[in-house]
Amino acid sequence: MTRQGRIACSFGRASATYDGASELQARAARSLAARVLGYAWNQPNVLEVGCGTGGLTRLLLPHLPGNWVISDIAPAMLDAARALLPSTGAQFRIVDGEAPDLPAASLDLIVSNLAAQWFEDLPNALERLAGCLASRGRLIITTLGCVSLTEWRDAVAATGYKAGTPAYPTAQALSDTLPQAQVGSQNITMIYDNAGAFLKSLRAIGATVPAKDYNPLPVPIMRQAMTHMGAPCRVSYEILTLDWTKP
Ligand SMILES: C[S@@+](CC[C@H](N)C(=O)[O-])C[C@H]1O[C@@H](n2cnc3c(N)ncnc32)[C@H](O)[C@@H]1O
Repeated sequence: MTRQGRIACSFGRASATYDGASELQARAARSLAARVLGYAWNQPNVLEVGCGTGGLTRLLLPHLPGNWVISDIAPAMLDAARALLPSTGAQFRIVDGEAPDLPAASLDLIVSNLAAQWFEDLPNALERLAGCLASRGRLIITTLGCVSLTEWRDAVAATGYKAGTPAYPTAQALSDTLPQAQVGSQNITMIYDNAGAFLKSLRAIGATVPAKDYNPLPVPIMRQAMTHMGAPCRVSYEILTLDWTKP
């Protein structure tokens, strides 16, 4: 199975436990929604990429009437979002955000909350998404920045191994992907009882697929890294917000 297929399965399996463990995603969704709703819209054609169970969708859709395509690569996530958003008139579709099969220049707004860190090739994906926007259309997304999961990477490094967390961009690298993109960064620290609780929360949201070509840690090394995290343990996340208007 491809890495992307494994990502879709992992998130699909977590669709029932996601909402109980996604405090970070909910916080990011609230500030993303406030940013999007701060602009004036007139019946826009909207694509949401990586909707998950629809946390961001529920904050936006009631306040932003338009023609919506709500999408994810995990069918079970899409089903969960659809169940929580009945009778909206929106289309729910399986769309790979890295290769959107929508007509060029057909959209006024693309939104996405904390899905793009799962893309294999972020700059290429953003270029393709930008191609779907009409002139003056906006791409407004959040993704993880390079500070994210520092404590876990350090704990694994202390064992002599490398963590399986994918490489996340700096704010500068993200802003370099599209001309004149605005990128903001916000650090959020989450506190867990111990490393076991932290790893359990990742499993509950389906965030379990490591970086490409990564071999899982041997069990004793995993235990050493978990001990190194201490109890309680803190884990940093950097939320990058990209806000770009197509010329
Ligand atoms: C951390 S969840 C975020 C869900 C939701 N946006 C939220 O704020 O709660 C990431 C979501 O991105 C989806 N995803 C991952 N890779 C994707 C891709 N290439 N195209 C579309 N969706 C993707 C996953 O299936 C998952 O539902």
